[in-house]
Amino acid sequence: MKFRKIDPGDIDRRHIYRLMVGTIVPRPIAWVSTISAAGHVNLAPFSFFTAVSHAPPMVSISVGMRDEIQKHTARNILETMGYVIHVVANGLEEQMNVCAGNYPPDVNEFEEAGLDAVPADLVPAPRIAAAPVAMECRFRSVITNGAEGDQTNLIIGEVIRWHIREDVMVEDKYIDPVLLKPVGRLAGNHYCRTQDVFEMQRPDRKKGQMAS
Ligand SMILES: Cc1cc2nc3c(=O)[nH]c(=O)nc-3n(C[C@H](O)[C@H](O)[C@H](O)COP(=O)(O)O)c2cc1C
Repeated sequence: MKFRKIDPGDIDRRHIYRLMVGTIVPRPIAWVSTISAAGHVNLAPFSFFTAVSHAPPMVSISVGMRDEIQKHTARNILETMGYVIHVVANGLEEQMNVCAGNYPPDVNEFEEAGLDAVPADLVPAPRIAAAPVAMECRFRSVITNGAEGDQTNLIIGEVIRWHIREDVMVEDKYIDPVLLKPVGRLAGNHYCRTQDVFEMQRPDRKKGQMAS
């Protein structure tokens, strides 16, 4: 089998982006609601999203720039500190996609996507009523990479409250991935569903014991 060697220094940024999103798959989608200091509500999806730690519970999103200007999500988080990350579950993909449009800062994507907003408890940004899982987050730190005008902000926040719809829970405590039905992002315009779930025991674990 032949392999092709590709070094990032030899290809343009578009090609690098396509290799990144083709390699790191599937990615969960953080659907992030924020509010600006002026009070404009914003909602946008981010698939450069992952867990950072669980004690304390920290999550990161990576927000690039648009035409050398910071995206509203990053700007709002740095202005008002509190935001909400929602899980995109089956049935919400179309609304999520609407929120990826390039709207002026005063456009509320909840309204564009026809989503009901409900107040969060501990942060100023509202949350999506229809999302089965939401995490209220407090901004903790940002790591900026990239050249001037083409930077990416890795934004790390601490989860300070979960909102979990009871019908996706097990034992009234945990989230069941089969019930949750999260949608993942692949490369380009491709997405995946999580209908084909399987179980596997770690060699050193007893049956039913949760892996960490
Ligand atoms: C599924 C999906 C995932 C995305 N992931 C990212 C991402 O990780 N980082 C990023 O900067 N933009 C990402 N985008 C693009 C942003 O959602 C888009 O630029 C959006 O307009 C940003 O909105 P804002 O300026 O209101 O923050 C993604 C778009 C989609 C549809």
